[in-house]
Amino acid sequence: MAGGREHVCRHVGIIMDGNGRWAQARGLPRTSGHLEGLKTARRIVEAAGKLGLSYLTLYVFSTENWKRAQGEVDFIMGLVKAHLLREMDFYRENGIRIRHAGDETALNADIRAELRKAMDQTKNFPGLQVVLALNYGGRDEIVRAVRRAAAAGVGAGGLDEKGLSSFLDNPDIPDPDLIVRTGGDFRSSNFLLWESAYAEFAFSPKFWPDWTEADLRDALADFGSRERRYGDTKR
Ligand code: FPP
Repeated sequence: MAGGREHVCRHVGIIMDGNGRWAQARGLPRTSGHLEGLKTARRIVEAAGKLGLSYLTLYVFSTENWKRAQGEVDFIMGLVKAHLLREMDFYRENGIRIRHAGDETALNADIRAELRKAMDQTKNFPGLQVVLALNYGGRDEIVRAVRRAAAAGVGAGGLDEKGLSSFLDNPDIPDPDLIVRTGGDFRSSNFLLWESAYAEFAFSPKFWPDWTEADLRDALADFGSRERRYGDTKR
């Protein structure tokens, strides 16, 4: 898309950072921060639907997060599983469709089964699509896309940008318009590397558990005031 007057934000990706520091600042274990972070995620999903977004990608667990203490990894996976198990009514009432980005194969069989069930049961829901980036890495997604292309008989010589995009995890989902990172750092941390080529970025100093609907509104309002040129010149 050339030109720079397109301000509709359909897809937001969020790097939900700061759970551990939120907890540590209160003298609580890091796991309390993740529990609070899950509550925030639920509130932001609700708000995103209300604010008219079509897609929300949440960076739940990266390919690098396996390096954390086993207890913390198990806790996060347990939270995700419990969320998927318990929130079917919430998805139904809000018409939310659950999707996944990342490498499913390294996930425990029980999480994988819950994820598949949630995706299957919500596949015809017409509202917000929530993409859970779980065991997700941007570089890993690109490598898996190249492998899928090769498996489909598409050699390197036959690949162009559009072709490679069609082998990504969710080729039907438009690129994110806005990537938000909470927690005060200014990094992409391997999140949606390919898809964020033309995304706007917003950084919030707040820890994820403190993030609110008002923060999402502010980020969207700021997005609306920016000019997106996609490499084109100002007209
Ligand atoms: C980053 O904070 C957060 C995570 C790695 C886990 C995020 C997971 C959740 C909020 C659960 C959401 C689940 C669903 C299903 C939506 P951090 O631990 O890196 O914080 P720190 O930088 O302060 O240590």
